[in-house]
Amino acid sequence: MTDQKGVRARHLYGGLANLHQGNSLDLCEKWPAPVTIICDGPYGVSGYDGDPESPEGLSEWYFPFFKKWAEKSTPLTTLWFWGTEVSWAESHPALKAAGWDYVSCNIWNKGMAHAAGNVNTQIIRRLPVVSEVCAHYVRRAEINYNGKNVSLKYWLREEFRRAGLSLYLANEACGVVNAATRKYLTQCHLWYFPPAEAFERIAAYANKHGAKEGRPYYSFNGESVVTAEEWQCMRAKFKCPMGVTNVWDEPALRSTERIKAGSKAVHYNQKPLKLMRRCIELSSERGDVVWEPFGGLFSGSIAAALLGRKAYAAEITPEVFEVGAIRAKSIQDLKEGDLFPESQDA
Ligand SMILES: C[S@@+](CC[C@H](N)C(=O)[O-])C[C@H]1O[C@@H](n2cnc3c(N)ncnc32)[C@H](O)[C@@H]1O
Repeated sequence: MTDQKGVRARHLYGGLANLHQGNSLDLCEKWPAPVTIICDGPYGVSGYDGDPESPEGLSEWYFPFFKKWAEKSTPLTTLWFWGTEVSWAESHPALKAAGWDYVSCNIWNKGMAHAAGNVNTQIIRRLPVVSEVCAHYVRRAEINYNGKNVSLKYWLREEFRRAGLSLYLANEACGVVNAATRKYLTQCHLWYFPPAEAFERIAAYANKHGAKEGRPYYSFNGESVVTAEEWQCMRAKFKCPMGVTNVWDEPALRSTERIKAGSKAVHYNQKPLKLMRRCIELSSERGDVVWEPFGGLFSGSIAAALLGRKAYAAEITPEVFEVGAIRAKSIQDLKEGDLFPESQDA
């Protein structure tokens, strides 16, 4: 099936999974703004046709993608960067330069079974590698303020000052003894993003008690004061489940989930649906848009669609696209509970 523009595409799961064949750098131009991006592209390990032999140069390779994604995203967006520890290290400067803020690094621990039988300790010159990384980034939130892009932290304090108010009055605004000024108006690393209710109180206070001539305070457009709902959209979604740390113990794919041609895996880099689900559930809600710009066998999009998200994906290699699309179609009648029996946010 081809789209109007002649792009080979499959729209599955009642329109929740939109899989395209082609270069995602171009295709994503037409996709709706993402809440979650799953980036599982080149590792620099010759893992698939087109994956470079070495991670050197990955930063330059990825930069146009990171930049385009930042332009198409909003401060609600989370980006999960999958790689080896060194492909991530190479790519981190490009992520930062393109407008992505680092949050943390999660380790996929495949366990001892991944090395067992494959390692000759008499000749190996390093410890056996049984991990990959999934680095967590969020789209940097900035506000155009007097012609300059500034951080939320800076803007919050500058607006209070512009209103001619002493900073300690933020405590009165929020109805607390000292926590508001210390947490929300500080410029140091101990700054907290004010919850919507606290933001609303600070903004209302500034507009009521601040100098009349400068009103409105805390406005993006110079006309209306930012609402609680608008403020909520100024940082990436995140829901921290109980009992999950940044070490993800999960065996490498060996079960029937692994797509094979004969006895050989079709895609060396196929990711477990369980880990895709984790990234998606941590950073999005039902109805949100998930991008998978390096689709492979579309594990991220399948998980996203089963979890009620709208997935947009691309795979550049026609043969891989076909296998991925057939895979996605073959399980589209499954219900979320069939693949994810103990779904967290069902
Ligand atoms: C690491 S694999 C993804 C595996 C996938 N997560 C899965 O579970 O099956 C990366 C894939 O991205 C594809 N790719 C590389 N560059 C691309 C681009 N510019 N646009 C779309 N796909 C691309 C490769 O052909 C490869 O199949």
